[in-house]
Amino acid sequence: MNWLLRLSFPSRKPGAVTSTRGRLFVYLALTAIVLLFSYQLVLNRESFSSDLRWAVGNGLKPPVDYVVPVPETPREGEQLQEQSDDMPLEPPEQQSEEEPVKQQETYPFREKELVLAAMSTSNMSWVEDHVPQWHPNIYRADVPPGEADLTVPANKGNEAMVFLTYIIDRYETLPSIVAFMHGGRYQWHNDNPLYDSVISMNDLQLDYVREAGYVNLRCSWVIGCPVELEPARYLRERPEDEGHPTALEFPDRFLELFPGEELPEVVGTACCSQFAVSREKIQERGVEHYIRYRQFLIDTKLGSEISGRIFEYVWHIMFGKPAQHCPDPRDCYCRTYGYCNMTEEELQKQWEWRGLALPEGWPDVDESAGLQKRGDLPSVEYWRKSTSRRI
Ligand SMILES: *[C@@H]1O[C@H](CO)[C@@H](O)[C@H](O)[C@H]1NC(C)=O
Ligand SMILES: *[C@@H]1O[C@H](CO)[C@@H](O)[C@H](O)[C@H]1NC(C)=O
Repeated sequence: MNWLLRLSFPSRKPGAVTSTRGRLFVYLALTAIVLLFSYQLVLNRESFSSDLRWAVGNGLKPPVDYVVPVPETPREGEQLQEQSDDMPLEPPEQQSEEEPVKQQETYPFREKELVLAAMSTSNMSWVEDHVPQWHPNIYRADVPPGEADLTVPANKGNEAMVFLTYIIDRYETLPSIVAFMHGGRYQWHNDNPLYDSVISMNDLQLDYVREAGYVNLRCSWVIGCPVELEPARYLRERPEDEGHPTALEFPDRFLELFPGEELPEVVGTACCSQFAVSREKIQERGVEHYIRYRQFLIDTKLGSEISGRIFEYVWHIMFGKPAQHCPDPRDCYCRTYGYCNMTEEELQKQWEWRGLALPEGWPDVDESAGLQKRGDLPSVEYWRKSTSRRI
């Protein structure tokens, strides 16, 4: 104990011998620290330079051409993953001409892609005509594999089968942002005065998608918010609710799809399965999970109206939002579409309920039927003004 005290306060003790011994200790300790420090510097420099070597010299290429990777060793897989953290969003201009060692398919790097769940008869010309800045992936769900550019392994589960198929097939080659939508241009649940997908895609705030990771394309709470399902209670009480088969099926199917995750008390999110997600958010789950979700859809005996609807109420959970995810609509319109500072009237007119389907021929409908024609809706002026975009 004594020597320790002396070491700490060498000069406070009088007496030549102890004082000298104490100083000796201090000098020795200082020398040791200096030696350790310089050794550490050497080590650091070593690891720094190996980082550099790793970054420029090991054959990994900047992300202009995505290559479906066939990792030879787990270590290579790790490196790909790590490097993707530092990837610039925009591809660099110049590329080396070196051929990739292994290459199955290449995709040009894209900032944003649109995934559309369509049928063989869907007229999809609106995509190319009006949202050319989004690279489209048009899946024909009712066409057998091989008979259209993009198809699904089984026409089950509605749009969920399409969305999961895209994620699985493109897991390693995802763009920075993916928007998932139904195929029709005009849909009753599209959240703008014309119910127009073109407006949604043109006005979507990409920075917000990057920041939030997952963004529902619908802000209105009508259908889905604040509470759509009560899975934990349904599991406990098994109530009779024949009118809501999704609510009855949801608890067991959720536990099957997300083993180990807690069954939520309340699930609430704006309806209708249209959303945008960042690549990082998708890749927070391994591809094997998406394969499992899709296999559930392929195997299930549930009808598509139920299995598809189950997914409608899990996408937001899958992509990291709380089970009850109902942002304030005013805030949501501002962040999602840039429609900020809306008046109460504008908020009311942003999305109006017209039933579960739009009138035939929308938006060019007959005024005599008591319906407003395209262009007559006051909110149209609002979003035109606020975004200075035209259809
Ligand atoms: C598809 O829709 C566009 C735009 O409404 C229209 O001009 C075109 O004739 C349609 N094509 C077919 C094959 O119906
Ligand atoms: C909304 O209002 C805030 C404060 O009142 C203002 O700073 C902002 O510029 C407005 N935004 C728009 C888009 O008008």
